[in-house]
Amino acid sequence: MKRFLIVFAVVVLLGGALNVMAEKHGMHMMMQETTNETNAVRVSLKLNPKMKQHLLKNMQSHVEAVRSIIGLMAEGKFNKASETAHAKLGLTPQMQRMCSMFKNDGYREMGFAFHKSADKLGEILKTGDMNRSLHALNATMNYCVTCHRTFRQ
Ligand code: HEC
Repeated sequence: MKRFLIVFAVVVLLGGALNVMAEKHGMHMMMQETTNETNAVRVSLKLNPKMKQHLLKNMQSHVEAVRSIIGLMAEGKFNKASETAHAKLGLTPQMQRMCSMFKNDGYREMGFAFHKSADKLGEILKTGDMNRSLHALNATMNYCVTCHRTFRQ
């Protein structure tokens, strides 16, 4: 009886371990498939090394701007948040120049629409209305998500 119990316990434990391994393996394969799928549908902008560096530096500054805007909103500094939205994410002459350098029409259009939405965010932030500001920030960040889903360097 004792021996039977030990064998039973080993079988149960082994079964559990195999199950976990199978699950992990399955998940790994699923993640691989998703990555491959994403890369297959994303359109490459075929950037040269210099443009690539330029773009990524700009993007780093975008994410820093979003962090800064959220921090300023939390502190109730809506005017400063508005200035940051216009200056760092809005359609400034510098951003206009940067976007115009891309040959892909769809990418350029999405870029301009994104910067315009950031200017709108800047306007709404000036009202000091937290709820409307969050909605506007959400709308602007939708462009981050959509563009990243559509294009790659
Ligand atoms: C019009 C298109 C577009 C928009 C809008 C856009 N991005 Fe990007 N972003 C890109 C592309 C293209 C890359 C390069 C992706 C790759 O690695 O192939 C990128 C990369 C990045 C990276 C990675 C930088 C690195 O050093 O690897 C960050 C961070 C980023 N974006 C942040 C943002 C944030 C935050 C926003 C919105 C506030 C935003 N982006 C809006 C196109 C866009």
